[in-house]
Amino acid sequence: MKATPSNERRQGRQRRERRERVATQISNQKKARLSSIEIFRLDGEGLGQHLDAIAEILHACVHDGANVGFVLPFDLNQARAFWAEKIAPGLVANSRIVLVAKVNNQVAGTVQLNLDTPPNQPHRADVSKLLVHPKYRKLGIGRALMEQIESYAENDGRRLLTLDTATDIAENLYLSLGYERAGHIPGYARDPNEDRFVGTTIMYKVLPGSLRLVRPSAYV
Ligand SMILES: CC(C)(COP(=O)(O)OP(=O)(O)OC[C@H]1O[C@@H](n2cnc3c(N)ncnc32)[C@H](O)[C@@H]1OP(=O)(O)O)[C@@H](O)C(=O)NCCC(=O)NCCS
Repeated sequence: MKATPSNERRQGRQRRERRERVATQISNQKKARLSSIEIFRLDGEGLGQHLDAIAEILHACVHDGANVGFVLPFDLNQARAFWAEKIAPGLVANSRIVLVAKVNNQVAGTVQLNLDTPPNQPHRADVSKLLVHPKYRKLGIGRALMEQIESYAENDGRRLLTLDTATDIAENLYLSLGYERAGHIPGYARDPNEDRFVGTTIMYKVLPGSLRLVRPSAYV
């Protein structure tokens, strides 16, 4: 075909339409998969019931290279001990929220909100340990968990969410959810596999529409 301006315009439009069709197909496929995601909050008893499954998620993520506080060798007993010893007390004290995502009744991911902030930070909470089992990645589970944990934060009167992340994939997810980069700290944590130290990015998000505790004029 001759490269006239009108032909180029037509070809450009066709390319755009093809791209949009593919994007719609992908998002429809994602929605179909998402409809089977169930997200719920664990209490102390629920943690006991799901201990093996959430330990397996942490274990699988660390072995897959996630930099989430642990280094190899890291076995399932250590993963169980993390949940039972470090996380369960906060659940019982109601100072921590743990959400779990199930797909087809299988535990596929989890995220936490630490509400145990100092008295001068009643409006802030820390998001941590967003973990999706490598088998269930790229199905929208991480995003769904983050959206849910934000509603729990808002319902608890939290207006400012903070987190840190060492991975680009998670950082992109947080950016797409409206988190801002506060800064990057080089050499923050040891790599789980290798004897080297990697940086972390500190991020935050101010939740809209939940001004119960902080007046905008008081926010500097
Ligand atoms: C980060 C993590 C939780 C994402 O979970 P997930 O369920 O696969 O994520 P989602 O399917 O909801 O994808 C959300 C976004 O993440 C990004 N993303 C996910 N997988 C990606 C990949 N392989 N490459 C690039 N971006 C990716 C995309 O921006 C995606 O946006 P989209 O919905 O527009 O496609 C998961 O990769 C994980 O558990 N990683 C190991 C643990 C970890 O590093 N956690 C973060 C601790 S701070």
